Amino acid sequence: MCGIVGYLGKNEKKEILLDGLQELEYRGYDSAGIAVIEGDKLNQFKAIGKLENLREKTKSFYTEGFGISIGHTRWATHGKPTELNAHPHLGAYSYVVHNGIIENYQELKEELQNDGVTFLSQTDTETIVHLFEKNHKTNTNVFSAFEKTIARLEGAYATLLITEADPDTIYFAKNGSPMLIGFNGNDVYFASSDTPIIGKATEVYYLEDGEYGYAKEGEVKIFDANGEKTFNKQTLATDKVAAQKDGYRFFMEKEIYEQSQVMGDTIIGRVLDDRIYFEELDKDFFEGIYAITICACGTSYNSALASSYLFERLGQMRCEVEIASEFRYKEPFLTQKTLFITISQSGETADTLEALKMAKAAGMKTLSICNVDNSSIVRESDTAILTRAGVEKGVASTKAFATQSMVLWMLALYVGQIKNTVSKDIVKREINAMLHAPKAVQVDDKLHERIHRLSKRYLHGHGFFFIGRDVFYPLALEGALKLKEISYLHAEGYPAGEMKHGPIALADSELFTIALMPKSMHYDKIKSNVEELSARDATILAISPKPFELADDFIQTKYDSHPMLEFFEMMVVTQLLALEVSVRLGNDVDMPRNLAKSVTVE
Ligand code: M6R
Repeated sequence: MCGIVGYLGKNEKKEILLDGLQELEYRGYDSAGIAVIEGDKLNQFKAIGKLENLREKTKSFYTEGFGISIGHTRWATHGKPTELNAHPHLGAYSYVVHNGIIENYQELKEELQNDGVTFLSQTDTETIVHLFEKNHKTNTNVFSAFEKTIARLEGAYATLLITEADPDTIYFAKNGSPMLIGFNGNDVYFASSDTPIIGKATEVYYLEDGEYGYAKEGEVKIFDANGEKTFNKQTLATDKVAAQKDGYRFFMEKEIYEQSQVMGDTIIGRVLDDRIYFEELDKDFFEGIYAITICACGTSYNSALASSYLFERLGQMRCEVEIASEFRYKEPFLTQKTLFITISQSGETADTLEALKMAKAAGMKTLSICNVDNSSIVRESDTAILTRAGVEKGVASTKAFATQSMVLWMLALYVGQIKNTVSKDIVKREINAMLHAPKAVQVDDKLHERIHRLSKRYLHGHGFFFIGRDVFYPLALEGALKLKEISYLHAEGYPAGEMKHGPIALADSELFTIALMPKSMHYDKIKSNVEELSARDATILAISPKPFELADDFIQTKYDSHPMLEFFEMMVVTQLLALEVSVRLGNDVDMPRNLAKSVTVE
């Protein structure tokens, strides 16, 4: 996830920017850059990879006296992690850094290109700086030119702009992406979150959406649609770790709440009005491919298993899913007509990586779906699709699962389109649902509160069964995995129809059944499975849009029009349930016992 810092004042600017960017490292990045104007001299440095590379490049650069400066860490989403794509982006005499996504950048880019502007990067951000300089040509007042620029931007942004045309001033704007201003005497700081300015600024103002303005020495002006605003600063917190959690108790909780935003990032540029588009895949990528094998571990395996239903249903393509550690030693029969997909959050999971190497050695075409660009699995694969979830710190994976499932759903529909196996009506229905997915994972405070209250009834017993059918079966597996990882209670995911073939023998009032009962998929079937359990006195927590009279506890979901929207909404419920049970049991939610975030050993 990208990070922004800015500083205006007399202190050494390079160190302030690099220290600030270091504080944002935990969010993940793959390139970084800074730009400084001192007097009328503009200096700029960029480097791909770790911040040490940028430190190395700037080691003989120092600043003295008053000046303005901006810095950025970039997590590649549009365009590869290259120096040209790294921020700050340069116009003829101005620099800009930006977080978020300018949704109308193609339109703006074309307009600017028609005016003769040459673009150096593949980013949406570069349009801001060129648009500003275009506006400045016709309007010599720098602030008016900036205001005019901001008025044309659609989408989410937090942006800082500096220009040789006004070398004492930092221009800023915020809409949909976080940005704050820190104060300490005449020094002014900017950042995309608290951590870079803790220990430097004493007071802070958190910009609201639609606010923009400028900062000069001793003067900060903020405007919104109604003109200039007065604003109240608050005392800045001093606890950095708490600040990294953005006010949430745990990283896992923050990541659950972030899912709506990252799902939006995942679909941007990929889900278009009438089709799915993956710039990562050549036109003929699926030529000669008649089946898919997916290999993964843990949560990534669960998302893979859910997608196997979608590949067969939408893509009309046979799809097998294998646990990587099993696949490696089963002496699998591999054919070059099968696409080999690996799924991994970290891109470093040893079993998945080794399975991938086996597939490559057998001459299979390979594709990875991964959250970390340049990871071992991405480098080893023929092609990679990034999930764009941003860094996931909680050991129990949440937003990685959400974005993997989203990418796989899109990919299944993509296959259906390429192979002509889906009708226009189905494409329309799926795309419409996909565009609603970020909304379906939004956490409702009332729901969270309800799950918190209800969780106290689930701290004992002799185990949990999460049950579901179709894609809700892998979701049940994932719900059970989440719960056992952080609560240390025994939990199993089961296909609901399979309970009567053995596990129902365990049913009694101390057996907790979490029943995923979507309205839009096999409702009556799962209902009778749950009734069988209820008849044996199992305690039932039903999650469904439809009230269910036999439930001991009931969580009513909102979506009922499309199974995948129900899937994502129920996913959030199971994640929050695991979180709240774990908190009540006093466990370390972010670092559960015996587990590591990335399993790089066999
Ligand atoms: O990084 P990966 O997706 O390859 O990791 C695979 C599993 O180790 C991982 O999903 C693990 O199961 C998580 N702790 C689940 O929350």
